[in-house]
Amino acid sequence: MNEPNLLRAVDLRKTFKVSGQNHSNRFLTALDQVSLHISTGETLGIAGESGCGKSTLAKIMAGLLLPDSGEVLYKGTPLSQLGMSEQKMFRQKTQMIFQDPFSSLNPRMRVGDSISEPLVISGVPSQLQRMELARIMAAVGLPYDTTNRFPDEFSGGQRQRIGIARALAASPDILIADEPVSSLDISIQAQIINILLQMKLDSALSMMIVSHNLLILRHICDRIIIMYLGAIVECGPALELFSRCRHPYTEALIAAIPGLNTSAASKGELLQDDLPSALSIPAGCRFHPRCRHAIDLCRSEVPKMSEYSAGHTAACHLSEALYGSNYLS
Ligand SMILES: Nc1ncnc2c1ncn2[C@@H]1O[C@H](COP(=O)(O)OP(=O)(O)OP(=O)(O)O)[C@@H](O)[C@H]1O
Ligand code: SF4
Ligand SMILES: [Mg+2]
Repeated sequence: MNEPNLLRAVDLRKTFKVSGQNHSNRFLTALDQVSLHISTGETLGIAGESGCGKSTLAKIMAGLLLPDSGEVLYKGTPLSQLGMSEQKMFRQKTQMIFQDPFSSLNPRMRVGDSISEPLVISGVPSQLQRMELARIMAAVGLPYDTTNRFPDEFSGGQRQRIGIARALAASPDILIADEPVSSLDISIQAQIINILLQMKLDSALSMMIVSHNLLILRHICDRIIIMYLGAIVECGPALELFSRCRHPYTEALIAAIPGLNTSAASKGELLQDDLPSALSIPAGCRFHPRCRHAIDLCRSEVPKMSEYSAGHTAACHLSEALYGSNYLS
């Protein structure tokens, strides 16, 4: 069944305490009022510069980190209200893939056992486990005769396949992948992307993919969320975001992609200045110190998120003036 709100986040806020000079503590805002949803079978991309909160968001959505406030809801129930058995089910049904698969694999466990572990935990009969292991290894392009090897006998790309295979063995509803290919060579990246694409075509699996690489997200995702300094500034259908973005930050990110021929790429200017610190988020529109369009209003008032076409939202006071109306009728 298509579940429009399979996984939903409502007003997530997350701060981290960091020690400053003279042992004083300060709070850094990693996420601020972040709301989103993932539907059954949907692939959602999360993009933004380093430090904008992508991994923090991914961990909170996977239930690995608690927000300061706000809620994550799985099939409509807040994670904080799940009973013991429902929590176990959520942990099984929401699998995470990390940038460095080595850190999430037990180095002393043979990969066959590692991939089979979720099958054992979820009670797949032992006679079916080998068949299922073979099916999953074939799906991610791992030779079955490697089951007796240990993780350090594999290349980075193969280890990422093992990580994906292990996640798939849990029969997840949702796969949350944090920079799944950024540590790999370009040719290997393409192979892993193709595995994810194939999974998208083959099943109703939902995916949330965090990546710096907007082109990868355009290739693989239905929708893309653009984050800036802990907040969502734009969200829209992947292709529409490229053909008609509605926020100057998105425009600048697209303009920074070499050789891309879109209106945003030709109109936009490359980002000037460094990302401000998450310890002191600028007032008003948090992007204003770097925005070439900023007016007084931008420095004092936080722009609201508005919907401009079906499922395409952006938070910019001047979106309509810069990119046209195109409001929902
Ligand atoms: N455990 C922590 N303690 C203190 N600060 C943290 C912690 N984890 C993350 N942060 C800070 O929170 C902010 C968001 O970090 P996060 O790792 O979510 O960003 P990111 O978008 O994933 O970055 P990258 O693209 O570099 O992976 C950053 O300013 C980061 O320094
Ligand atoms: S609200 Fe103002 S500063 Fe922010 S992105 Fe829009 S124009 Fe730029
Ligand atoms: Mg990260």
